[in-house]
Amino acid sequence: MQATLETVATMADDLPVKPNQDLDHLPGPPGHWLTGNARNLLPNLGPFVREQQAVHGNCFTVGLFRNTRVVMMVGPQANEMILLDKDNNFSSRLGWEVLLELFGRNVLVRDFADHKQHRRLMTHVFKPGTLSGYLNQMNPIIAGSLSDYEGVVDVYARTKQMALEIAVEVFAGIQSGPEIEVWNRDLNLVLSNAMAHKIRLPGTRYSRCLRARDRLRKRLSNELCNRRKAGGGDLFSQLATQQNENGEMLSDSDVIDHMFGMLFAAHDTTASSLAMIFWLLAHHNEWQEKLRVECELLHARGGSNQLTYDSLDQLSQVDWVFKEALRLYSPLQLIPRRSVHAFEFEGLKIPENTALYLVPQAVHFDPKYYSNPDQFDPSRFAASNTENRNNDPFAFIPFGRGSHMCLGMHFAYMEIKAVVYQTLLSRRLEPASPEALELEYLPIVRPTTSMAIRFSTL
Ligand code: HEM
Repeated sequence: MQATLETVATMADDLPVKPNQDLDHLPGPPGHWLTGNARNLLPNLGPFVREQQAVHGNCFTVGLFRNTRVVMMVGPQANEMILLDKDNNFSSRLGWEVLLELFGRNVLVRDFADHKQHRRLMTHVFKPGTLSGYLNQMNPIIAGSLSDYEGVVDVYARTKQMALEIAVEVFAGIQSGPEIEVWNRDLNLVLSNAMAHKIRLPGTRYSRCLRARDRLRKRLSNELCNRRKAGGGDLFSQLATQQNENGEMLSDSDVIDHMFGMLFAAHDTTASSLAMIFWLLAHHNEWQEKLRVECELLHARGGSNQLTYDSLDQLSQVDWVFKEALRLYSPLQLIPRRSVHAFEFEGLKIPENTALYLVPQAVHFDPKYYSNPDQFDPSRFAASNTENRNNDPFAFIPFGRGSHMCLGMHFAYMEIKAVVYQTLLSRRLEPASPEALELEYLPIVRPTTSMAIRFSTL
């Protein structure tokens, strides 16, 4: 029997689940006894946090539901201290506790030495050779999905559907047959309700989500033995067959937990940024044309309607647009952690077991780091442009940084480029209505209603 990685206990395991509330010495706006500051924060997260930052500085408390106090930490210095976490003091496991029940001990809910050994093994499933195999698998899915983008399309609904099809085929490796429908249905149930209120009564969204999760776990578990033997180019088979330098593999339950973690981390984030890119290109025709020219030049050189792994680097302007979309609309608006020990930041003493949140949007709109931050200007990400963007790596954190930095970042760049390439070679995008875009920010940025774009064949 093959040896498997063991879970390593960490100091975060000993902390109480409820975060410390002894925070009266810290600055912050007063909150309602029941709703805290949630009514101001939820509909307007970035602007609310920036307003509070202007009054209280880079570290302040806010109240969430039942006025549970948490600490917002904003700016590149806070991002660096918490994400690099040189002293193993900021627990992601307790920050992302909400995922534990549904998705098990996936990589986001592991800390320090324990997290490191799992992450090291998982990075192999994102090596260039493996990534290029995923790209070959996703290209026809993208083509099929785009084939009926004609007339007015609700892009957010469609990008979610496309991301789901990619999850079933490229992540889980279910390529054909009646199984696809069942996977699609259950995965959709789990991913769309993962952050629903945890009310387990029969018929509630969360209880349907738990049942769908159990069915998926069973199917993954039934498949696992085959995948370990036969391997395969999909992400599940890759995860099932990885070994570290000591010949240790992931246990069955770890493979399944990590699969769920990745599906959760990949799905809504990619769908959200793709929808925002479509929206921005429809509303900034000059950039749509620039990107189309870039795609057509590449097409003229290579001749394929589908992007190849070797040509990813040739779409540099698509890259800038993706980065600018991430700056303006970071899908993940809060990055949660919990302090294991007390620490100091800018003269303030923050006790142990305090719930902390980093806010990418706060620094992404700070004029100290981005000139005209409200303006859509992808050229600020050109390598030669040092004027309207500060190069501090902790001033751009849509994928996080440090030990938990997004494992699927290159996958995401690849998927976005593959979709934009196929779309712009065949379609023109225009706004379908004069209405302004209304967004929800938590748990992931998305339109409050539909996101209508008009597509026409070129
Ligand atoms: C635009 C798309 C995406 C965005 C904006 C995004 C963003 C992020 C962020 C901010 C984190 C760090 C969370 C933290 O530090 O607490 C993260 C972690 C992670 N992401 Fe992504 N992500 C994206 C796509 C993907 C994709 C496509 C995959 C998988 C194929 C993926 C897999 C992961 C995993 C496994 C982690 C946890 C890493 C760890 O804990 O060590 N993500 N992502």
